[in-house]
Amino acid sequence: MELEEYYGEALPTLRKAEQTLWNIVNACPAQESVGGVQPVIYCKSRIKKPDSMMRKLASRGLPTDAGTALREMHDAVGMRVVCSFVDDVYEVSRWLQTRDDYEVLEVKDYVSYPKPNGYRSLHLILRFTGGRMKGLQAEIQLRTIAIDFWAALEHQMKYKQAIDGSYEKIVREELKRCADEIASVDISMQTIRDLLREEEGR
Ligand code: GTP
Ligand code: MG
Repeated sequence: MELEEYYGEALPTLRKAEQTLWNIVNACPAQESVGGVQPVIYCKSRIKKPDSMMRKLASRGLPTDAGTALREMHDAVGMRVVCSFVDDVYEVSRWLQTRDDYEVLEVKDYVSYPKPNGYRSLHLILRFTGGRMKGLQAEIQLRTIAIDFWAALEHQMKYKQAIDGSYEKIVREELKRCADEIASVDISMQTIRDLLREEEGR
């Protein structure tokens, strides 16, 4: 099903919210970078595909119409912000929480408190406060580039698993091992950056 068909007259509002999030993230003051490494490397956004939204609603025993989706789900509009370093994730997140286009309903910190499978990201659940977007919810996910790489593969596994589960256990274990290594590398990269900064400051 196409976006238009599912979200109907709400779609322009969803698109506006998506664009608003881009404008906000683009306005994030790029903190001083060391060695040309930018805090935000890239962003992605999407309006959740009807099939995926309907599946999610159904799995929660809810009606699968767009009205219910927009009321009950917070990720019809989603943005992902990919940063170089763990500290940047927190800094950009703090900055995003000071904007007044929306209120922050919830902060989910899977960076400090990873999921059992190793998933590490910071999620902000927002609700827009003004204009025709008023009341609309959105989700921003912030993560390091290393974990973004990991999450893409992990997501693929979840999807593939439904098709053929023969390697499921070993893939899951290997992914967890990679997540742990990435967490350790992220800390080391952060430490090196901090040392370089200290050096610069002298
Ligand atoms: P859904 O997972 O979206 O049904 O909502 P939830 O209320 O359980 O929220 P949660 O914070 O678990 O996840 C929100 C979103 O974060 C997901 O839709 C994914 O985009 C992402 N996410 C959460 N956990 C994982 C994970 O283990 N692996 C990957 N690749 N992405 C995840
Ligand atoms: Mg979940």
